[in-house]
Amino acid sequence: MLTMPRLQQFIALLLITLAYGDDCPISFNIPEVVEYGASFSVNCSTNVTDHLGLSWEPNKEAAEKTGEISKTLVGEWESEFSCYIYFNETQPCSQNLSVTIYKTPDSVSISALNHIGPMIEGIQYELQCDVYNVAPAQSLTVNWYKGKTLVNQTSFTDTSKSSVNMTSNLLIQPDRTDNEAQYRCEAALNLGEEGPQPPPTVTSEPLSITVEYDCPISFNFSEVVVEYGTSFSVNCSAETTKYLGLSWELNEETVEITSEISKTVDQMTEWEGKFSCYIYFNNTQPCSRTVSVTIYKTPDSVSISTVNHTGPMTVGKQYELQCDVHNVAPAQSLTVKWYKGETLVNQTSFTDTSKSPVSKTSKLLIHPNRNDDRAQYRCEAELNLGEEGPQPPPKNKSKPLSITVQYGGCPIELKPRRAVVKYGSSVSADCKSFVPHDGIGWEATVGGVPLSKASLITWRVSQLTDWEIQPPFCYINYKQQCEVALPVTIYKTPDSVSISAVDQIIKEGNQYELQCDIYNVAPAESLTVNWYKGETLVNQTNFTDTTKSPVNITSYLLIHPVRADNGAQFRCETELNLGEEGPQPPPKNTSEPLSIPVHYAPEIKSCQPWSPKKGSTLDSYPKHLHSVVGNPHPSISWKHNSSPVNASAPLTETDSGQYEITASNHYGESNCTISITVEYSPELICGESYEVKEKTVFSPCDVEGEPKPELSLYKEGKRIQLFNGFRWNDSGLYQLTARNKHGSVNKSLTINVQYAPRLFASQQDFVVAKDYRIILQCNSSGNPEPEMWWSFNNKNISTGRRYITVNIEKATSTSAGNYTCIARNEIGRQEKVFTVKIKDNSRSYLLIAVVVIPLLVLLLTCLLFLWRRQRASGRYDVTTLKSNEMVPLSNGGT
Ligand SMILES: *[C@@H]1O[C@H](CO)[C@@H](O)[C@H](O)[C@H]1NC(C)=O
Ligand SMILES: *[C@@H]1O[C@H](CO)[C@@H](O)[C@H](O)[C@H]1NC(C)=O
Ligand SMILES: *[C@@H]1O[C@H](CO)[C@@H](O)[C@H](O)[C@H]1NC(C)=O
Ligand SMILES: *[C@@H]1O[C@H](CO)[C@@H](O)[C@H](O)[C@H]1NC(C)=O
Ligand SMILES: *[C@@H]1O[C@H](CO)[C@@H](O)[C@H](O)[C@H]1NC(C)=O
Ligand SMILES: *[C@@H]1O[C@H](CO)[C@@H](O)[C@H](O)[C@H]1NC(C)=O
Ligand SMILES: *[C@@H]1O[C@H](CO)[C@@H](O)[C@H](O)[C@H]1NC(C)=O
Ligand SMILES: *[C@@H]1O[C@H](CO)[C@@H](O)[C@H](O)[C@H]1NC(C)=O
Ligand SMILES: *[C@@H]1O[C@H](CO)[C@@H](O)[C@H](O)[C@H]1NC(C)=O
Repeated sequence: MLTMPRLQQFIALLLITLAYGDDCPISFNIPEVVEYGASFSVNCSTNVTDHLGLSWEPNKEAAEKTGEISKTLVGEWESEFSCYIYFNETQPCSQNLSVTIYKTPDSVSISALNHIGPMIEGIQYELQCDVYNVAPAQSLTVNWYKGKTLVNQTSFTDTSKSSVNMTSNLLIQPDRTDNEAQYRCEAALNLGEEGPQPPPTVTSEPLSITVEYDCPISFNFSEVVVEYGTSFSVNCSAETTKYLGLSWELNEETVEITSEISKTVDQMTEWEGKFSCYIYFNNTQPCSRTVSVTIYKTPDSVSISTVNHTGPMTVGKQYELQCDVHNVAPAQSLTVKWYKGETLVNQTSFTDTSKSPVSKTSKLLIHPNRNDDRAQYRCEAELNLGEEGPQPPPKNKSKPLSITVQYGGCPIELKPRRAVVKYGSSVSADCKSFVPHDGIGWEATVGGVPLSKASLITWRVSQLTDWEIQPPFCYINYKQQCEVALPVTIYKTPDSVSISAVDQIIKEGNQYELQCDIYNVAPAESLTVNWYKGETLVNQTNFTDTTKSPVNITSYLLIHPVRADNGAQFRCETELNLGEEGPQPPPKNTSEPLSIPVHYAPEIKSCQPWSPKKGSTLDSYPKHLHSVVGNPHPSISWKHNSSPVNASAPLTETDSGQYEITASNHYGESNCTISITVEYSPELICGESYEVKEKTVFSPCDVEGEPKPELSLYKEGKRIQLFNGFRWNDSGLYQLTARNKHGSVNKSLTINVQYAPRLFASQQDFVVAKDYRIILQCNSSGNPEPEMWWSFNNKNISTGRRYITVNIEKATSTSAGNYTCIARNEIGRQEKVFTVKIKDNSRSYLLIAVVVIPLLVLLLTCLLFLWRRQRASGRYDVTTLKSNEMVPLSNGGT
């Protein structure tokens, strides 16, 4: 028989309606939400076993005859796909599905719409929150915060699937208490339970508002500008008549009842000044306005100098001039202007916000030429203090600095000043004189030019192959002979650049060395070796070797590989930095990439439950899905109840349970416990027939299967839902179907419903005259067939089955009373009470005699006739024995 839990389970199963695909028997297993660009997998499966194939395309050839197909996709804005199932028909049936793709915003920014600067109390402003590149807009909520308080929330109805820019606006009407309030907006993506938790949010920078409230006070200056140590005075006046008084302090006792108060400072000896004027009212808080005081100080000194140089300057070189401004305030108002003669050549301003005096330096780069000899430079410090400040702005000038320029001692110029030449290539340089001379020439080991009267001569070599060349020089006979040398750099790019690892096996966590071999490069001094991992520069080496001819160079890189570096590509690159005169961009040579395998111990990152199908093996455990990693590839072993399991043995339904999986390789092992549920198609073990009590729900068969099959009960081809168990008339032939994703099974069975007796009677209340005949009749049904009996005055008067009667031939007063019909079987018992009342005839004699007798004579004739014809039928009869005392039968209840 059934155990109690099984029974409950069965009830539960019976109550579930089987939602079997109305149109196309396909179901999908897809993630509800996917991040844009992330990969995810989609399964399409069917419960139907008799199909011809499943496919992702409307192409019968591509259809696979399997219960499930899957594919991996990358989240794109149009992530829609269809699955097709083929039956005998030529057209497959299909179903479309789409996945919600989401993207967190790139940025969220807050701004005041069409407004800059302080806000005015009582005016309405609009703040705007811009959310860039977010999807889907429907899931977006913009939360507005003032400080820590959520002040409003916007959601969006835009149905576009791809990323959009969204804007939310907030209307604010700030009052004085909102001064310096910080607003920010937050974009939250609510993707439902399947989405990331907590919902991703991106918050804007806070927007701090300043509120200017109209305090009815005015000053005679909008700003006070005063020189340090001097006196000033400022007036504050009320701009209303409804006030009590004015004060320079927030202190009622100092309130002066006047329309203007003034503040005088005899000597300003502080570097910061702010004066607030308060106005007091009868019934509201006082308010105030503040006048700010700018205190300035002209510099103690302004001086000009050359940086790191004394004496005459040389044509073509760069020099730096410096202007030192001592002890000036405020730095923000300072401008240093540079003049050459009377021409403004540059100017500098400062962002330093300090209020107290500082010293500032400004620099000017100059490239003097021959005409600049004896030029005069000077600098000027100017304090621009705005409209309220002194006019014209105070200026302090440096003494002039006069520069002398000479032609480098020798009045010739080389172009280029330095020669950079590839080994074996041609080279040339011009030498130009600035002055009339007695002869000019090039002296060199190759390509020398003899003394000439020309003003420009050229040194030229068509193939430079001397690594150790002496720098050639140009000389001039002018007053006395002088000369300028031309430095020559000969370079050669490497013949080869190759990378190698010193060790063959690289294990995570250890330190290894990579080596870069560079053959035949010159000059070593100009060489830079760049090491790259992928596209990232990871180190750089320069060399100090001063050899001019080609050398072989080795550079090393130390690495501490981690597993993520497995397969990373390293390369080294050489760069010859030959200066301005050298080739641009600097010549580069790169090694082949070196890919390093990083060995590491196994790791099992995820230990999710697994539900294989019966008949599959532990070997088919999807390691990649559960992130079993390790290099070299770990070998997998399994244990169940602490004993090793043969992983290639097919799993049976009894094999569900906790399994320990161990991944091991040379470097170690990792294990975890996985809950394995072996799934299999339903099985039904049924008897041929069952007896069941009415109104009880019961399980006729033993049901097996994983996942738990859904059961459906059919009678005469119609699905039956049993909510309160079988009804009394539900006996018959049934079919039970058990179905899960692996298949379905059917069994026929007979159900015989047992039920308590049910009683039927057409009349239960009788009123008859004395001496009449009464027959009480009681019918029953029930399974098993009930026993029945009549009870009158606690005595059983008649027994039987199905149908019992009480026959009172001649009613007397003792016949009156309650007659109970009782039926009983194993399932229950039922009773019905019949009442019989006997009427006293005497009181109606007079009426009968006067009115009814003539009628009765007629009626009697009819009745006698009828009685003769109908005596054999009917459920009760009235027999008149005294023809002159007859009374019409009254029906029950009247
Ligand atoms: C397909 O048709 C063939 C022949 O008409 C029949 O034998 C088979 O049972 C049908 N299969 C299905 C799944 O309807
Ligand atoms: C969103 O705004 C950015 C920046 O203004 C713009 O480059 C981009 O095209 C906008 N995207 C959409 C979908 O309008
Ligand atoms: C708050 O949001 C609702 C709905 O988005 C909007 O109707 C209302 O104007 C907003 N309130 C303010 C103060 O912006
Ligand atoms: C201030 O209030 C008092 C009492 O309410 C009233 O007598 C007085 O006139 C008011 N003063 C001003 C300046 O309104
Ligand atoms: C000036 O020369 C000194 C010493 O030679 C040096 O330390 C300093 O860095 C130089 N300053 C500039 C601006 O070149
Ligand atoms: C002129 O001033 C600007 C800004 O201060 C500066 O960048 C520039 O180098 C100066 N020019 C010279 C020639 O010093
Ligand atoms: C190597 O030399 C190059 C070019 O001169 C320079 O840009 C780089 O900063 C130097 N790197 C190191 C590490 O000194
Ligand atoms: C990077 O280069 C510097 C100087 O070339 C060297 O001292 C350092 O060890 C290098 N780092 C690595 C990781 O190789
Ligand atoms: C297949 O069976 C599963 C449970 O066994 C049920 O949830 C699903 O709705 C069924 N799918 C179809 C297409 O009938």
